[in-house]
Amino acid sequence: MDEMVKPLLQCEKVSVSFGGVRALREVDISVSEGSITAIIGPNGAGKTTFLNAVSGLVPAERGSFLFEGRDISRLPAHERGRMGIVRTFQNLEIFSNMTVIENVMTGVHRNVGYGVFTSLLRTPRFWQEEERCRRRAEEELEFVGLLEKADMMADELPFGNQRLLEIARALASDPKLLLLDEPAAGMNIRETRDLGKLIKRINEERGVTIILVEHDMDLVMKVSHWIWVLNFGEVIASGTPLEVQKNPDVIAAYLGTEDEEGGDAEG
Ligand SMILES: Nc1ncnc2c1ncn2[C@@H]1O[C@H](COP(=O)(O)OP(=O)(O)OP(=O)(O)O)[C@@H](O)[C@H]1O
Ligand SMILES: [Mg+2]
Repeated sequence: MDEMVKPLLQCEKVSVSFGGVRALREVDISVSEGSITAIIGPNGAGKTTFLNAVSGLVPAERGSFLFEGRDISRLPAHERGRMGIVRTFQNLEIFSNMTVIENVMTGVHRNVGYGVFTSLLRTPRFWQEEERCRRRAEEELEFVGLLEKADMMADELPFGNQRLLEIARALASDPKLLLLDEPAAGMNIRETRDLGKLIKRINEERGVTIILVEHDMDLVMKVSHWIWVLNFGEVIASGTPLEVQKNPDVIAAYLGTEDEEGGDAEG
């Protein structure tokens, strides 16, 4: 995937600070439509902050975000969600008091076609919509391989499955741009390999553009078309997986934090 392809997301000179900590400094990152774009970097580099800024969960103090050519910098998170910017979380955010399928249905409900009245009065329209939501949720559970666990309580799922559940819920809301924050964290080797295949299927079969934040370099190198590297809040490199792997600045950034690496940090 080269940079001739139309960008779906263009971030220009984005800066975010938390008190004295400058988490992102004038970050320019663009994401080609139809790509799997990875964002990598050592712990604390600003990767999660970048996803939060794109989805509108933290304000950017400077800079702009163009999505499909439209300036979304001033839009609140729920409007960005409605436009198709949907994410999963590094520290899983599933509803543990609901079943697996109910969790996915909350994703479908984001674009459901009835208002509060229909819902309160439990009209036939409500039950039709409810049935439609359930079927859609089942489709997404099947897509990620969790259909047979649909009626389990979400918190009874093994950890790796909970990450898949978050992905299914995100897919249920019809994302155009899916932001995945360390989806392989806590997964074993086999689960991670299957996750790589799933990410490719989401991209190829569903036509979803993906931003992947991930510490597992095998996974990143296998699935990404393009990689951006952050270090201390700044972009230090970008390129194809092969180019980035050979980049001396990238190697230095990772060697500098060798013993912190491993993707188990929560932030
Ligand atoms: N809500 C917050 N309040 C204060 N500081 C924060 C907050 N969120 C992030 N930071 C700081 O901003 C910097 C970037 O953090 P961020 O979580 O974006 O890094 P990351 O690249 O996602 O790291 P990791 O690989 O460990 O998940 C860090 O110095 C972090 O301590
Ligand atoms: Mg993070």
